[in-house]
Amino acid sequence: MTTPDPAARRVKLAPSILACDFARLGEELRAIQSADWAHVDVMDGQFVPNISFGLPILAAARAASPLFMDVHLMIERPERYLKDFAAAGADGLTVHVEATAHIHRAVQQIKELGKKAGVTLNPGTPLETLRPVLAEVDLVLIMSVNPGFGGQKFIPQSLERIRTVRRWLDELGSPAELQVDGGVGAANARAAVHAGASNLVAGSAVYGRDGAAAGLDRLREALK
Ligand code: DX5
Ligand code: ZN
Repeated sequence: MTTPDPAARRVKLAPSILACDFARLGEELRAIQSADWAHVDVMDGQFVPNISFGLPILAAARAASPLFMDVHLMIERPERYLKDFAAAGADGLTVHVEATAHIHRAVQQIKELGKKAGVTLNPGTPLETLRPVLAEVDLVLIMSVNPGFGGQKFIPQSLERIRTVRRWLDELGSPAELQVDGGVGAANARAAVHAGASNLVAGSAVYGRDGAAAGLDRLREALK
């Protein structure tokens, strides 16, 4: 029997710009240019109890950085805005199963726009809700906090959820990214990868202390 080896899977790091200094967005994006993706958290004050930013900030980030723009839509009925976010520079669009009655259609729409399609769900939502679209998606995001705010504590039960979805993806032979988002940092990054994550979002762990370069280094060190 083989034990899962995190080093065997090249883990992508996706710093969340939610935690950056927006007055210096261009510099803050340059500071993460050695990362793999930029994670862009869009909140509408309806689906989640907070408003972050929308299309103009994504367009500005797109203009300032060649990084893959990984857009996490925490908005009600995201299908209304998929085309706009694609036009503003998203490379990938991730939608919540709870936010639409038509998750399958939303995933198809993202693919028709030529973008990577992601699906996600809140920590309290049964994993079974994403199973019908699992074979269709390019990314599954396991939320490890309740969405709406940066800087929250990682919910430990998320590791079991990552393990379950890893098993399902492997059974399908799916190459989809398995992303984890919320409270991820040097203390739990390795455990998340051991559980099967291939892609780590981190906001405050990257931007929160002494600059993004140091934050990214700490995460990489933790994964060694
Ligand atoms: C939470 C967002 C996260 C958030 C992560 O609603 O989806 O992407 O920015 O921030 P940290 O890493 O600080 O938990
Ligand atoms: Zn996010």
